[in-house]
Amino acid sequence: MYQTFEELKESIKDCKKCKLCNNRNNIVFGSGNENADIMFIGEGPGADEDIQGKPFVGKAGKLMNCAFEGIGINREEVYIANIVKCRPPSNRNPEKDEVEACLDYLRNQVLLVKPKIIVLLGSVALKAILGEEYSITKSRGKWIEKKGIKYMPTFHPAALLRDSQKKIYFWNDLKEVKKAIL
Ligand code: URA
Ligand code: SF4
Repeated sequence: MYQTFEELKESIKDCKKCKLCNNRNNIVFGSGNENADIMFIGEGPGADEDIQGKPFVGKAGKLMNCAFEGIGINREEVYIANIVKCRPPSNRNPEKDEVEACLDYLRNQVLLVKPKIIVLLGSVALKAILGEEYSITKSRGKWIEKKGIKYMPTFHPAALLRDSQKKIYFWNDLKEVKKAIL
């Protein structure tokens, strides 16, 4: 484990620990406040993120920004990262070996940020962080506390683009998060 973000970022620069390195344009390490109280964890970069090297800058990210603005969460004050840092081809889910290869970077990010709250965006993040036995439909909206960190699983913003009925749940879950740090 690295003690500073500088060292951690240096260590990931040319990462070839999994096959997702073959098609990437940029590693999407993470963005935001490195001392944030709230951390958001997504799945992996999409096309826009891969081009820009930043998480949640495409359609799903714009929807997330809308929710942040409505609820009063400042995107600059939170930290945002993904389970895998390189874009899976055609936005498929990351495979088990890819998640395993990449997860140490995220663990190190969590150790450095020391968030009070982690919002798990969608099933891939939920299962990778808390375990395969969790299901997003059963767990979303419920706090899960582990090792001093409070986890809030919720829908992935891309799921809201496919089914707008999910928006209200996402909004409510983020309101719970906002309430918890007030
Ligand atoms: N979806 C994700 O899971 N992460 C991103 O950074 C963008 C879209
Ligand atoms: Fe390395 Fe993660 Fe990219 Fe795989 S996804 S190459 S482990 S940075």
